Amino acid sequence: MNILIVGATGTLGRQVARRALDEGYKVRCLVRSPKKAAFLKEWGAELAPGNLCQPQSLQSALEGVDAVIDAATAKATDNLSMKQVDWDGKVALIQAAKAAGVKRFIFFSILDAEKYSNVPLMEIKRCTELFLSEAGMNYTILRLSGFMQGLIGQYGIPILENQAIWVTGESSPIAYMDTQDIAKFAVRALSVPATEKQTFPIVGSRAWSAEEIISLCERLTGKQAKITRMPLNLLRIMRSVSRFFQWGWNVADRLAFAEVLATGVPLTAPMDEVYQTFELDPQETTTLESYFQDYFGRMLKKLKELDYEKTKVKKKSVAKTPSKKSS
Ligand SMILES: NC(=O)c1ccc[n+]([C@@H]2O[C@H](COP(=O)([O-])OP(=O)(O)OC[C@H]3O[C@@H](n4cnc5c(N)ncnc54)[C@H](OP(=O)(O)O)[C@@H]3O)[C@@H](O)[C@H]2O)c1
Repeated sequence: MNILIVGATGTLGRQVARRALDEGYKVRCLVRSPKKAAFLKEWGAELAPGNLCQPQSLQSALEGVDAVIDAATAKATDNLSMKQVDWDGKVALIQAAKAAGVKRFIFFSILDAEKYSNVPLMEIKRCTELFLSEAGMNYTILRLSGFMQGLIGQYGIPILENQAIWVTGESSPIAYMDTQDIAKFAVRALSVPATEKQTFPIVGSRAWSAEEIISLCERLTGKQAKITRMPLNLLRIMRSVSRFFQWGWNVADRLAFAEVLATGVPLTAPMDEVYQTFELDPQETTTLESYFQDYFGRMLKKLKELDYEKTKVKKKSVAKTPSKKSS
């Protein structure tokens, strides 16, 4: 089966590419910058230069493709807006895939998108789900919560560097999942007919609040976190200020999303039946404890080594410095 992965340079997309290659699929990746995507070529994927916002580039990328896995999304720092990439771009991709005779289309949505029509990305995801389900292809929609990988910058690095950890007033507990595990579901969907024309939540085994994550990090590092609370009103002001400037549109949309996470409503879903349908073992899914244990284990070992090297260099330079007597 020939697969086209869109967004394969991203956090989730690269794991999907890795998994698909490991499972023996022939993988082509639609990439905006072949230079940035060189690692995918090294892994054995074919690169197809293209852009979701340039529909003519999609046609050639889709030639001979049986299945599409779409893991693309607008970057906060990009010139392209969320609407251009996540709506216009996705509509163009779905239409082009249908026209090219693609049989399977896997799309990543967000859990509970239908509950937040006031949040641009949530509304775009809901509309894309609908558009895809009516496009006449065998689709699978995977509704995600948060990525464990995102927690490194938010909690892991600040605690190691004695920096402030920012949390909003009341933060929703989230059932985070490792992107490597999400990738397993996405690739498995291609070979399980029971996942065709279906929508599934794909989330971690339990929801974690910001406070619980902080105490886990404290326990694993032996450090005390510096917590800074961001009032929700400040978030709202930042959102309206950044919306005022065109460059801030994506930022404003992201801040709107942060507001969802500050509602206090848990972002989680039951997964027992999902594991059964995908014939995957929940025991093999990474827990947040083991994810952070592995991360801090590696980082603390590296820091110790750096410390050791520094002391060695210091000792050497002291030994080399001639004393006043001998000079
Ligand atoms: N992050 C989360 O916690 C989370 C939670 C729920 C759902 N999701 C969903 O999961 C999926 C993957 O998210 P992610 O966080 O892994 O994304 P990411 O790391 O931000 O990566 C985005 C990818 O999309 C590509 N892209 C952006 N604009 C493009 C365009 N115009 N044409 C072609 N490619 C384009 C980027 O390519 P370049 O390298 O060229 O920039 C990159 O490969 C998305 O559908 C997202 O909505 C994410």
